Amino acid sequence: MNNKKNPVTSIFNLKNKTVVLTGSSGRLGTQYADILSAAGANVILADIESKKNKKLENNLKKKYDVSPLAYSVDISQNSEVEIMTDVILEKYKKIDVLINNAFFNPSQSKFSSSAFEKFPLELWNQVLSVNLTGPLICSQSIGRIMEKQKKGVIVNISSIYGLVGADQRIYGKSNLNSPVSYAATKGGIVSLTRYLAAYWHGKNIRVNTLSLGGVLDKTYMKNDFIKKYSEKTILGRMANKDEYKGALLFLASDASSYMTGANLVIDGGWTAW
Ligand SMILES: NC(=O)c1ccc[n+]([C@@H]2O[C@H](COP(=O)([O-])OP(=O)(O)OC[C@H]3O[C@@H](n4cnc5c(N)ncnc54)[C@H](O)[C@@H]3O)[C@@H](O)[C@H]2O)c1
Repeated sequence: MNNKKNPVTSIFNLKNKTVVLTGSSGRLGTQYADILSAAGANVILADIESKKNKKLENNLKKKYDVSPLAYSVDISQNSEVEIMTDVILEKYKKIDVLINNAFFNPSQSKFSSSAFEKFPLELWNQVLSVNLTGPLICSQSIGRIMEKQKKGVIVNISSIYGLVGADQRIYGKSNLNSPVSYAATKGGIVSLTRYLAAYWHGKNIRVNTLSLGGVLDKTYMKNDFIKKYSEKTILGRMANKDEYKGALLFLASDASSYMTGANLVIDGGWTAW
């Protein structure tokens, strides 16, 4: 990205920045990895999944003049995250941005559509350990480095269900009901952001939340569900998977330099009426 003369590109420029992106090989993670790399960042692709991640690393290297690193890590494990931080520092010498994007997708579990009254504690603990404890662990480990650097940016990814209750009426027999663990962890993320932003006052570490609405995926969503969901938004549709990367780049870059402790909501108007 040529940032020398163009004031538009210069405020979004991430040339030589080290960005840690958790959940990098997921649906949205791959989108974020692409735009961050296009802006010049060296992205640490931090995911528990390794095959897709390695492929992503190779693609980014071919496409952009950057040095990404596919790194296999379980963000719910403190010791693994500590080692990851050391490895990144050894190779890149600094960490500029952390994006807490990974999450445990409860639809992977047969319990995903369980009624609240029967929601298994085991699953609750599993979701919490990735969705909330994971961002805590990553923010502790990398925040320590940012404190020493006297500079850093953290972006925490939340959802409309961290802000409002999941409207059970739209799910019908879709089996896509959003579980209580998702709402609790995504609400927790919004609070974690405010806590950290306030905690690091005067330290030049900015922390913000990006809260998203649902992404259209016809591979598993039935038309009836898509229609009911879309009617709940002002724009009358679900999001496309590439519609969040502009906001992510905004929050990760100097374009948002006066923003901290905030929650940027992009949801097609779901929460506005
Ligand atoms: N897709 C949506 O409709 C939507 C809507 C609102 C918010 N969000 C939020 O966006 C984020 C990304 O969503 P997505 O749709 O890309 O999800 P996804 O399931 O496609 O990707 C999640 C990624 O996290 C990784 N992951 C899971 N457990 C991990 C662990 N313990 N350690 C490291 N990595 C782990 C997975 O391997 C996967 O690559 C999530 O935080 C989600 O809550 C998504």
